[in-house]
Amino acid sequence: MNLFRRAYSSVAPKHVQFFQSILPPHAVLSSLSPSNTPLDELAPFNTDWMQKYRGQATTVLKPKTTQQVSAIVRYCAEHTIPIVPQGGNTGLVGGSIPLRDELVVSLANMNSVRSFDPVSGILVADAGCILQSLTDYVAPHNHIMPIDLGAKGSCQIGGNVATNAGGLRLLRYGSLHGSVLGLEVVLPDGTILDQLTSLRKDNTGYDLKQLFIGAEGTLGIITGVSILTPPSPQASTNVILALPHFDNVLPLYKTVKRQLSEILSAFEFIDRTAYELAVKHGQGRALSDEDVAGAECFVLVETSGGRREHDEEKLTDLLTSLLEADKPLINTGVLSQNPAQFSSLWALREGVTEAVSKEGKAYKYDISIPLASFKDVVDATREHLHSKGLLGEHAVKHVLGYGHVGDGNLHLNICAAAYTQEIQDALEPFVYELVASYRGSVSAEHGIGSMKTHALHYSKSATSIAWMKKIKALFDPKGIMNPNKVLE
Ligand code: FAD
Ligand code: MLT
Ligand code: ZN
Repeated sequence: MNLFRRAYSSVAPKHVQFFQSILPPHAVLSSLSPSNTPLDELAPFNTDWMQKYRGQATTVLKPKTTQQVSAIVRYCAEHTIPIVPQGGNTGLVGGSIPLRDELVVSLANMNSVRSFDPVSGILVADAGCILQSLTDYVAPHNHIMPIDLGAKGSCQIGGNVATNAGGLRLLRYGSLHGSVLGLEVVLPDGTILDQLTSLRKDNTGYDLKQLFIGAEGTLGIITGVSILTPPSPQASTNVILALPHFDNVLPLYKTVKRQLSEILSAFEFIDRTAYELAVKHGQGRALSDEDVAGAECFVLVETSGGRREHDEEKLTDLLTSLLEADKPLINTGVLSQNPAQFSSLWALREGVTEAVSKEGKAYKYDISIPLASFKDVVDATREHLHSKGLLGEHAVKHVLGYGHVGDGNLHLNICAAAYTQEIQDALEPFVYELVASYRGSVSAEHGIGSMKTHALHYSKSATSIAWMKKIKALFDPKGIMNPNKVLE
């Protein structure tokens, strides 16, 4: 089913006039309005973070209230105008960018905290609140957000929920399917579904909110989020471990889990290429030559616990036992000594995404596969590109791997001089078939967007896809909500 075969209406001047009549001044950006918004003001809404996807939206709306979102959507349903909900536009699969000239509804102006209960830690916020601003909001109350990711300065909580983003804290705090307690959603006919409950327990039939978590804006526009924020750890520290061989990652993970147990809060992996790109592009401070010598890859371990002395003792004991083992799994470990070093070590891992985008154009494959196969997949992809004659400064500059070991999630990145059809054809379906051969997932955490609609079948059965389509048709019979995203 290609939703774009439907008879959609393009936004026209008369529609813009209507939007102007229901929204505050400055909430309508349109090249069709009498004031004629210049194209360069619309460009940021038509281009994604990687500069890979480009849309042709003529009109962007920035409502301030749920009622305004509802009025916009009701009108679009009546006139069959397709809508792309947009949060911070940091998505990596082309979900937030129009495929053609769909109307963009940006949540950026819905950015107020509605309530926070310091006893339960339950935060209720508008969907357009930026993740970092929520982190800052709850910090004085000694709470943290249950989710953290490199895009925290721009991504919005609504976008996080819409993508079911994973990130750097999933190992400790689990997925948003657990920490989101309630949602307010404007459905594709304009109805407001108020499920903004703040109850920890609520077994009253179907849990509808779960459907919108990870739906990538295809079932409705999330306008409010109720989320459980955990107490801030009393002490956090981190260490980067340099490993001589990738094969040591798995036994290391087992050892670290056993020895650190309840204080382990992150176990993140970067290969040597990812490390070198991070350093080259100024993400965190380089380790010394001595620390890096002979390292094939690195692991960042973070601890978060209740008492600093206790946690530091555990971490020091771990390092000592790792270094003094008969066959050491690590070459060395660099322990952070102060908050600046803590951030700098994290930057080496978190900054890889930014570094890759500074180095070139990224083909990103965010996959779940058995941990033992992380390196094989990176190597097999590199060899495949080599066999096609595509490795080199003017084609594919680097093939690298990094990711969330604790979640079995590898980020396979191909960094190229430019996006070309030749590289694209060499990578797909090659990578997806490789993932399928491990019975893996073609999207561990970034979603499907427009990038992977054709690859969904590698990870979902025909029956599952058929039911997803039925759910989509039930909620959105006119197919106006983010058409051709997630489902073809
Ligand atoms: P957008 O990019 O604007 O939108 C993403 C999708 O959600 C689109 O389909 C859009 O239509 C839909 N959407 C957005 N807001 C709403 C809403 N209110 N209602 C309904 N639908 C909506 N992702 C991870 O999972 N883990 C990571 O560790 C991670 N790290 C990243 C690091 C960097 C540097 C960057 C650039 C990206 C990273 N991402 C990561 C990807 C991205 O940040 C996440 O997917 C994020 O959750 C997207 O939020 P956003 O507000 O930018 O959404
Ligand atoms: C990460 O883990 O760094 C993010 O998912 C972003 C990326 O894949 O580059
Ligand atoms: Zn990630």
